Amino acid sequence: MRYENKVCFVTGAARGQGRAEALRFAQEGADVAILDICADFPTTGYPGPTEDDLAETVALVEKEGRRCLSFVADTRDLAAMQSATDTIVAELGGLDVVVANAGICSGSSFVDISPEQWEATMSVNATGTFNTLKTTVPVLIEQGRGGAVVVVSSVAGLRGLPFLADYSASKHAITGLAKSVANEVAQHRIRVNTIHPASVPTGMTTPELFPLVAGAAHTLGPIFMNALPITTTPAEHIAAAVAWICSDEAAEFTGIQLPLDMGTLLR
Ligand SMILES: NC(=O)c1ccc[n+]([C@@H]2O[C@H](COP(=O)([O-])OP(=O)(O)OC[C@H]3O[C@@H](n4cnc5c(N)ncnc54)[C@H](O)[C@@H]3O)[C@@H](O)[C@H]2O)c1
Repeated sequence: MRYENKVCFVTGAARGQGRAEALRFAQEGADVAILDICADFPTTGYPGPTEDDLAETVALVEKEGRRCLSFVADTRDLAAMQSATDTIVAELGGLDVVVANAGICSGSSFVDISPEQWEATMSVNATGTFNTLKTTVPVLIEQGRGGAVVVVSSVAGLRGLPFLADYSASKHAITGLAKSVANEVAQHRIRVNTIHPASVPTGMTTPELFPLVAGAAHTLGPIFMNALPITTTPAEHIAAAVAWICSDEAAEFTGIQLPLDMGTLLR
């Protein structure tokens, strides 16, 4: 129950890792706010979640006896993010934890990345994360009670993964963003860390990536290899790590890049 009397805000929580994180915070006593665009993207090879999926996350949180505010909104829309943040503070009485989790991913060779794909990936993953922090960090500073922010990056935010150049650029961008913000807000006891998952079985399936990797297996395959004989990390294990790093048990840790990667970065 590390989150009793706390309010946690998770973006991209209609399903996947965001849902697991929202649920974990609720299981540990938090009231939770969740936000998701609940829409398909023309540049991704997988469908987005629906409003029913978002409602299912609300139901799961409420089943834990906690309050859950939900928003259908686009993290790229700064005014919508400001409005959501204002509502969270007014309705739930403040804000303690922010997880900037919303993101999209498309696999393609660099030469095939269209301007539309570049724009979508950068705007959702980088600008959406900027907007999330831009609207919530001032609240954490103003409250004067510290706080924790997690920016969900990727192994691709530390390594130049092939066939993911736009995604990798966006995830490097938010890794840098988090490190700079961490320096500025540490004086307020606000911690900002990034997590770097490898492969998590969620709706983000990127089927177009597999033939590209298979076609270059003899040269580029090893970059995707894990040290552990495990191929995926359950979303619940990512959520457990997020719940730890946002808790008082991690009070001394800020500006770190936490790999949750089955040892792939060891290679
Ligand atoms: N699945 C993986 O293997 C993996 C690996 C490393 C990092 N990640 C990152 O983890 C995070 C969570 O992804 P996931 O695996 O749960 O995938 P997911 O597709 O299941 O969840 C991502 C959620 O973000 C939402 N979203 C996307 N764009 C949005 C926007 N503009 N505004 C609001 N919501 C938006 C989607 O609707 C979706 O519900 C992402 O940032 C992703 O890049 C995923």
